Amino acid sequence: MLSLSIREAPMAADGFQFAFTPQIEEETAPAWERVKRHVTPMEWRAQAPLIAEINRLKREKDAVILAHNYMTPEIFHGVGDYMGDSLGLAKEAAKSKAKIIVQAGVHFMAETSKVLSPDKTVLIPDLRAGCSLAASITGADVRLIKQRYPGLPVVTYVNTTAEVKAETDICCTSANAVQVVEEAARLWGVDRVILIPDEFLARNVARQTDIKIIAWKGRCEVHERFTAADIAEIREAYPDAEVLAHPECPAEVVAAADFAGSTAAMNDYVLTRKPRRVVLITECSMADNVAADAVDTEFLRPCNLCPHMKRITLENIYQALLHGRHEVTVDPAIAGRARLAVQRMVDLPPPATPARYDLVKARHHVDVELI
Ligand code: 13P
Ligand code: SF4
Repeated sequence: MLSLSIREAPMAADGFQFAFTPQIEEETAPAWERVKRHVTPMEWRAQAPLIAEINRLKREKDAVILAHNYMTPEIFHGVGDYMGDSLGLAKEAAKSKAKIIVQAGVHFMAETSKVLSPDKTVLIPDLRAGCSLAASITGADVRLIKQRYPGLPVVTYVNTTAEVKAETDICCTSANAVQVVEEAARLWGVDRVILIPDEFLARNVARQTDIKIIAWKGRCEVHERFTAADIAEIREAYPDAEVLAHPECPAEVVAAADFAGSTAAMNDYVLTRKPRRVVLITECSMADNVAADAVDTEFLRPCNLCPHMKRITLENIYQALLHGRHEVTVDPAIAGRARLAVQRMVDLPPPATPARYDLVKARHHVDVELI
């Protein structure tokens, strides 16, 4: 159950009192329909007035909210204009016509939006919303890597700072990493590619391609906690459950799953295949959000929370819109170089088949070269 720090008639920092009026109840009824399996009526009476006020502020200020799949349901379904995985949000940031983008996600996502939309104001509701992968590597590290492996293309996961992206050749997300690695090898005419900073994503990609991968030791602190023993336990208790894992999980977890893919790919899997029972080996809010459209699927929930994603709340989104804070800026020289790397990824044609990391497609048990 969600815990809230606001009470039934929340008082905003500027003293504005929000009441759950019949008008607000009616206005927020569509969002309530989507969240009611995960939010109690008492919580909703506190959240709905804030949701209505945020939606009013968005119209007044010409703002859009880009909400990652790991946002809590009241944010995702209540105030999100575009919802999706890192790739989807990056594409949306590039084409949005709004003056202001509020990133309901983590700091590297807001930086990516700013890099792609330098003329827009990009706000992040809490500056502390970081990422263990983005924190694992610096621009100076990438410069050293390039010295050590001259002539090899550097593919960087979007979960990095703009400074790191600026040092790299092309970005990727978990949705397109195999495609980007193969494209980079083809364009550079090489059979080895540097894929940083997620060691586990690199290992999972290495199983899908003949290209040799040089990897960095970054980890997602949420996905690294899942183990193959967790999957074995689930399978024993629920033999009919379909197991979907994010490719930031260790390779043995992905190998034990039925399917692996980005958050958007997991969402598509559930909505198109309609499993009777499913377990999403990823961040906790993901299942709550997919469940709104997957009413016939039972979700088992051995999830881990991302403390960075959970820093974003309805209250700080409201404050962000009201006060225009916290504005995310990127040094124009860095942004220009980072934009090239992100834009190369955004401009890639959609893959013929969605990125998958399942056992059926895995060609090898190849090891990566760890820097
Ligand atoms: P995707 O949404 O691209 O799958 O990424 C997951 C993630 O960890 C974002 O922080
Ligand atoms: Fe970073 Fe992992 Fe949190 Fe995503 S889930 S923001 S990769 S720490």
